[in-house]
Amino acid sequence: MDQAEKLRELVKAKKSETEIIETKGEEIYTLPSKKTAKIIAVASGKGGVGKSNFTVNVAIELSRLGNRVMILDADLGLANVDIIFGINPKYNLSHVIKEEKDIKDIITETEYGVKVIASGSGVKELVNLSNQQRQQFIEKLIEIENMVDILLIDTGAGISKNTLSFMYASDYSIIITTPEPTALMDAYGLIKVVTLSKQNVPMKLIVNMVNSKEEAKEISSRVVLLSRRFLNTFVEPYGLIYRDKNVLNSVMAQKPFLVLYPATKASECIKEIAQKITKRISSLKSEEEKSDNNSLFKRIFNFFK
Ligand SMILES: Nc1ncnc2c1ncn2[C@@H]1O[C@H](COP(=O)(O)OP(=O)(O)OP(=O)(O)O)[C@@H](O)[C@H]1O
Ligand SMILES: [Mg+2]
Repeated sequence: MDQAEKLRELVKAKKSETEIIETKGEEIYTLPSKKTAKIIAVASGKGGVGKSNFTVNVAIELSRLGNRVMILDADLGLANVDIIFGINPKYNLSHVIKEEKDIKDIITETEYGVKVIASGSGVKELVNLSNQQRQQFIEKLIEIENMVDILLIDTGAGISKNTLSFMYASDYSIIITTPEPTALMDAYGLIKVVTLSKQNVPMKLIVNMVNSKEEAKEISSRVVLLSRRFLNTFVEPYGLIYRDKNVLNSVMAQKPFLVLYPATKASECIKEIAQKITKRISSLKSEEEKSDNNSLFKRIFNFFK
């Protein structure tokens, strides 16, 4: 409870900081800050299923649709987002963890309008975060809450504490799988762990590297059915991405496929999913405005529970 109390104070302080928008003479005019970021964690059971490519490209499309977007590369210790973007950030999360930099100082602006917080690759401090470091790090997300509309978190594969913490701190999580039985079983394993944690994280499923709509439908209904029958949880099918050789070509060129191959099949799929996310984000925001609660605080509070 001590920690929860501390967080409540922290959130209050941050809120009052951001609510002061204008001063005239002695008077201070304030507006409630409603522009809080919605957090989407992108996760998978199995590695190499396309999380980072999805995150980077959907972020670019979300930005084109008028959202302010930031990516947090939370594949701690094995970062990839900067490579896919073809950027070379000077500072990364390892500097924040070592308390050499503030989280706001390590944000990189990309030419696509998307902001990036890079992770460090091969940095063992990031892989082996203590529970306290992980908590402190999630607390720092409050500092960037008002800077963007959507914070996309690209997590590492599997059910590590790091990945689960980011999923628990999200408004909803997108789980990526491919049609491979191993990827499917691992996706189900992740859904099971999250469900049993009782953190109430809504989960959506995207099937990547499919050859047809029918294949995607077959795969997602299998996961939906299994989750409903054995875990009593609803996982929402959230779209598909076709297997497309231009994805690999764009990784090799270090330029996102949405930019290099705007009309390729994978780009068309990304555009559809970005529309869906934009709609969901605006309805989450209007729900929040109605209920007037502080969702990030609630999530962090849940995290400490
Ligand atoms: N739709 C697609 N069509 C064809 N190949 C794809 C597609 N999506 C991803 N790939 C291939 O899979 C590789 C891995 O993708 P990516 O790095 O995005 O996966 P990841 O889930 O982030 O991996 P990790 O778990 O290691 O972080 C890409 O380099 C690309 O070659
Ligand atoms: Mg990745």
